[in-house]
Amino acid sequence: HTAHLTIRPQAVIGTINPRIYGSFIEHLGRAVYDGIYEPGHPLADAAGFRTDVIELVKELGVSAIRYPGGNFVSGFKWEDSVGAVEERPSRLDLAWHSTETNQIGLHEFQDWLDRVGSELMLAVNLGTRGTAEALELLEYTNLHAGTALAEQRIANGRTKPLDVRIWCLGNEMDGPWQLGHRPAEDYGKLAAQTARAMKQFDPELELVVCGSSSSTMPTFAEWERVVLSHSYDAVDYISCHAYYENTGDLGSFLASGVDMDRFIRSVLATADQVKAVRGSSKTIDISFDEWNIWYNTRFENIDKIQGVRNWPKAPRLLEDVYTVADAVVFGSLLITLLKHADRVTSASLAQLVNVIAPIMTEPGGPSWRQTTFFPFAATSAHARGTALDVTTVTDTYETGRFGDVPILDAVAAHDEATGHYAVYAVNRSMDGPTEIVVDLSALPEGAEGLTPSARVLNDPDLDAANTLQDPERVTLRNLPVVRHGATLRITLPAVSWAEI
Ligand code: AHR
Repeated sequence: HTAHLTIRPQAVIGTINPRIYGSFIEHLGRAVYDGIYEPGHPLADAAGFRTDVIELVKELGVSAIRYPGGNFVSGFKWEDSVGAVEERPSRLDLAWHSTETNQIGLHEFQDWLDRVGSELMLAVNLGTRGTAEALELLEYTNLHAGTALAEQRIANGRTKPLDVRIWCLGNEMDGPWQLGHRPAEDYGKLAAQTARAMKQFDPELELVVCGSSSSTMPTFAEWERVVLSHSYDAVDYISCHAYYENTGDLGSFLASGVDMDRFIRSVLATADQVKAVRGSSKTIDISFDEWNIWYNTRFENIDKIQGVRNWPKAPRLLEDVYTVADAVVFGSLLITLLKHADRVTSASLAQLVNVIAPIMTEPGGPSWRQTTFFPFAATSAHARGTALDVTTVTDTYETGRFGDVPILDAVAAHDEATGHYAVYAVNRSMDGPTEIVVDLSALPEGAEGLTPSARVLNDPDLDAANTLQDPERVTLRNLPVVRHGATLRITLPAVSWAEI
């Protein structure tokens, strides 16, 4: 195949908000305990944080990190997680059928974030708790001094407020699995009431109301309409969550970005309809605060923990091993997010360490990068500044789930600060390479000054993965770029993701 790409600086999609390179740490499985935190590990610092993991998180380039859940947050009492560590209670975590020891809580997590250089995105519990507790948490984290809660934080070791700017109003409240799940009407009213109260404290807070847990939920779209009709004026974002897995139909799996694109368009259409009905001048953006490849079927069938006497601490849960095919799709999801950079202005890769994660650790042993690490790190490092629409002429192929789909999908970014252009492309062709011809003649700088390079993620073995036994099996490799004047020619292997 051949595909023609034209880069035009005028084809601006929008400014890339660095918050789209966010991630997510939930108290789930070994994300926290035996993940970011493992006192006694040879590489742990004085606080018990693994320094090798800190370095990998920095290398990944993660902006905001959503915390502490996820489903976990709907049973979470934040008060259990602050104060003297030895006095903190162990609690049942009904979401993941585990025991939460609260050895790591708000303060420790903020300390860790300070080390990795990421921003805290905090979720409040609107499952088993309500507006009052959300306000108390906000006062504890964000008030400088002078009230019992602010003074409690100071006594607990943080003189300066955490000053959390972005907050999630609960988690996946449309899902029957969620503690405190409720109908859209009820959640919409509760979220609106909580959002208004939080903004009485600080009108500049950025608040995310829960959208659907996936576009396949029976209440999808109507949920968004009802929730926003209650909360529109008080919130800033509506969330989207989407996970993809290869169920044996590789062609459709490779086209997951098409599904994500339709999902985003549908949510924006719904939000804008509510805007129009209200005659509002305000626009709601999307916080795509859970996205990834997740072999959910495996969790449902094998991983779930059961039994009223069985509440393990930090069990191995959701430890998906990602293949080359998974990473190619993962990279294409980043392309889709960038194609909506004007309205998707916050996103969280779910998740970060050990739990459906780009970074894995072995207790007492090494840490390593999964295949999905590479597209994220590259995109976060270089897709900065302005997202540009790429005019693409390409063949299509027939998929079982999404009809005719372009073989080649691409987006570009122009970082005004460095002058760099970056193009991200996925070759979905399963039967052979695609030569891409990139036309740079519209660049005002002239293509002559550019020194093009390309890196690709692919492997003849689509199931190749990085594991404890073979942690560096898959990585990015350089691709030749042939240049003729203002044209670049690059051959992308079958089923590959590339950064140019
Ligand atoms: O990321 C894993 C889980 O997926 C989260 O806890 C939940 O919000 C979603 O269903």
